[in-house]
Amino acid sequence: MNVNKKSPKPSLKKSGKSKSKSPFDKYFLYTHSVQGAEHDAELLWKILRTCSDGNLPKNPTLQEDFCATAMLCYEWAKLGPNHRATGIDLDSAALSWGAEHHADSLSKAQLANVEMIHGDVLDNHNVRSNVICALNFSYFFIKERERLKEYFVASRKALAKNGLLILDAFGGPDYLVSHINQRRNKEEKFNFWWEIETFDAINNQIKCHLHFQRDGESRKNRVFSYDWRLWSIPELTDILHEAGFKNVQYWAEGLTSKGNGNGKFKPIHSEKDCRTWITYLIAK
Ligand SMILES: C[S@@+](CC[C@H](N)C(=O)[O-])C[C@H]1O[C@@H](n2cnc3c(N)ncnc32)[C@H](O)[C@@H]1O
Repeated sequence: MNVNKKSPKPSLKKSGKSKSKSPFDKYFLYTHSVQGAEHDAELLWKILRTCSDGNLPKNPTLQEDFCATAMLCYEWAKLGPNHRATGIDLDSAALSWGAEHHADSLSKAQLANVEMIHGDVLDNHNVRSNVICALNFSYFFIKERERLKEYFVASRKALAKNGLLILDAFGGPDYLVSHINQRRNKEEKFNFWWEIETFDAINNQIKCHLHFQRDGESRKNRVFSYDWRLWSIPELTDILHEAGFKNVQYWAEGLTSKGNGNGKFKPIHSEKDCRTWITYLIAK
């Protein structure tokens, strides 16, 4: 078992909004490209309120597995004076970065409700939570069915009564072929690329990379790389049921008349003819 190590106290260093001469900071770029922690915190809170059948916990507690810089934990703690969060990750550098940079926007009281554990999510850390989440597909690194089931069983045991395990998953035919998508963060003045290098239909394994280029600099390739198994929703549902969850719900973003996301997430029962999709699974 891993020893719970509280993350270092936040220093006075400022979070450093991207300046052309600031050092290349992969966590800053990650946070400002593929993460939407503020939105995710609100969505998880809405899901908990919707699914708690009138038994909303007094101290809504979130466990963010594979938390990296744990931005979601810090955003969760901002939602109310009783919101508590624990982040778990193997990467102490990422945890420390979060403690230094995300913590700046929290009051002392809010910060006291956030704890970091430097450890393996597959170990028992004696934390009891109302919500356990593994977002941005981070549990996809578990490629064996039995191992994934062990993770779901352990999560179920760590949940408080009426607790929820929340996962996100992606898929759709456009993701099943190698390609690269370029996006820009105008405000922070950098481009980033999400690359699917390979997808293997025999074992559903997918290799992806994030590349970054700040204005006036050369592109840095493969700043983050992922070697995942692309689990399908039916597979995940079956394994969640085998792990003891009685009920699995699916939530996704609604669409505008032009087919773009409208920012409003709600329960869905089917998801037809999507070239790409991202869906949240809520297991109870
Ligand atoms: C894709 S990143 C995390 C993304 C983050 N959840 C988000 O929403 O953007 C994957 C993280 O999982 C962590 N990780 C991988 N295996 C782990 C394990 N067994 N236990 C804890 N953390 C793990 C890595 O250190 C890395 O920080």
